Amino acid sequence: TLQEDSRGSGARNGSVQQLPQTIIIGVRKGGTRALLEMLSLHPGVAAAENEVHFFDWEEHYSQGLGWYLSQMPFSSPRQLTVEKTPAYFTSPKVPERVHSMNPAVRLLLILRDPSERVLSDYTQVLYNHVQKRKPYPAIEQFLLRGGRLNADYKALNRSLYHEHLRRWLHFFPLRRIHIVDGDRLIRDPFPEIQKVERFLKLSPQINASNFYFNKTKGFYCLRDSGRDRCLHESKGRAHPHVDPKLLNKLHEYFHEPNKKFFELVGRTFDWH
Ligand code: A3P
Repeated sequence: TLQEDSRGSGARNGSVQQLPQTIIIGVRKGGTRALLEMLSLHPGVAAAENEVHFFDWEEHYSQGLGWYLSQMPFSSPRQLTVEKTPAYFTSPKVPERVHSMNPAVRLLLILRDPSERVLSDYTQVLYNHVQKRKPYPAIEQFLLRGGRLNADYKALNRSLYHEHLRRWLHFFPLRRIHIVDGDRLIRDPFPEIQKVERFLKLSPQINASNFYFNKTKGFYCLRDSGRDRCLHESKGRAHPHVDPKLLNKLHEYFHEPNKKFFELVGRTFDWH
């Protein structure tokens, strides 16, 4: 059966490696790490620690499903295996490849306000440069060209959710794609996680008491069998100040694309 085929042979005391039955496909900076960590609170979930980049990196994909399987955590056969690679959502080749692995896979997509996501995306790249002590231009340099928004800026394109989702819908029905509201996951994670539990047909085992608001961090952190932990300091960074007029341009830029996205998914989000 498919299940047997999707299990590795390196069993350790009854545990197996399995191809993921569910994948967090993105979006970059949407809250993908928070979602994975929160879902991992469930005893029925085994998560791959690192981003695997199987379907989007040729040097990985060319090694085949055996390689992919070898990247998966050891789990009990009854657990669901999950991996997250945020770049999948915006990589054109990925939907078909995921479908050919398993057309019944359940996809998780976490989205947040597209303008906010652009600022977060910029901030991520800025910090990568700061770490390497390399200079990096101010965000305006990327956002503007000749006084107008620069549609070629990659971070803008990644926030055109309807364009990317359309590609996935050529291969997967909407009911196989659960969209997590990333802004709500920040403000009040438990209800969003409950919805994910239901979508994945997991028994309701994650509790409100697994989350507590950490004032210093300014975000919810996790409490797991008495152990408290927040996400890494790279999650929840301050964004650059942007001139309100430019911010307005950004909001306007996403207005139509957002409407198209809401029509596509039959649901609205509380975005600018
Ligand atoms: P910012 O750092 O821009 O605020 P990803 O893991 O996909 O890169 O997403 C990172 C984003 O997750 C952060 O972006 C942050 O807003 C969001 N996030 C959601 N819940 C969080 C939590 N409990 N702790 C820290 N960050 C969280």
